[in-house]
Amino acid sequence: MSSFSTTTTYTLLLLLLLAAASSSLTAAAESPKPTPWPLQFHSILLVNFSGSLSLIDLWYDWPKGRNFNIIQSQLGELLYDLEWNNGTSFFYTLDSNKKCRSAQLEVGILRPNWLDGAVYLGQENVDGFLCNVWQKVDFIWYYEDVVTKRPVHWVFYTGRSIHVMTFEVGAVLEDAKWQAPIYCFDKKDTQTDLRHNYKVDVGYSEPQTEGVLRGSMQL
Ligand SMILES: *[C@@H]1O[C@H](CO)[C@@H](O)[C@H](O)[C@H]1NC(C)=O
Ligand SMILES: *[C@@H]1O[C@H](CO)[C@@H](O)[C@H](O)[C@H]1NC(C)=O
Repeated sequence: MSSFSTTTTYTLLLLLLLAAASSSLTAAAESPKPTPWPLQFHSILLVNFSGSLSLIDLWYDWPKGRNFNIIQSQLGELLYDLEWNNGTSFFYTLDSNKKCRSAQLEVGILRPNWLDGAVYLGQENVDGFLCNVWQKVDFIWYYEDVVTKRPVHWVFYTGRSIHVMTFEVGAVLEDAKWQAPIYCFDKKDTQTDLRHNYKVDVGYSEPQTEGVLRGSMQL
């Protein structure tokens, strides 16, 4: 009788240990997930690309299928990079040079859940914020504030480094500002297909010279 109850006690202990072990395994498998992007937001981004600095006004507008990077290079050109979800992009200036190039890409703008499937790397302090860090297919390292869940920083495989300075959820740029200038549609102007300037990598593409980030993450 007593040996039976001892066996029972050991069996119960073993079961408890197994249960504890499997729940801690489950906890390890449930690593944090990146917060999907809000459907509409405005961000000011500080960009450092091998020491070349720029400021970008990013207007992300998923419901209207459009994404705008207004890029001010330090003491340089103000460049408009307007991207539509049908793959058409316009890169232009609004100064007297009237430059415009357009591109037709096979990918649309980023989907709000484009970070799905990113691999969790742990926590790191970046720009003074404690962040969760993920990596997506050797393309991007993404840092999100542990507390507020806002993006703080991301780095592309090219070394282009982005610091998020503002993050206004729900901010929308008025429709009139999304109109590419008339000279973008002038057939006499040479319209260059910029596809060769893009490094397309498993559904992502990043302009080599302009822009920040685009591509539908069809992974
Ligand atoms: C920009 O990045 C370079 C490294 O590529 C670094 O040496 C430099 O300090 C950075 N500049 C700023 C303003 O962060
Ligand atoms: C994509 O949409 C934009 C904005 O409506 C338009 O200017 C462009 O011509 C469209 N591109 C294609 C390939 O339909």
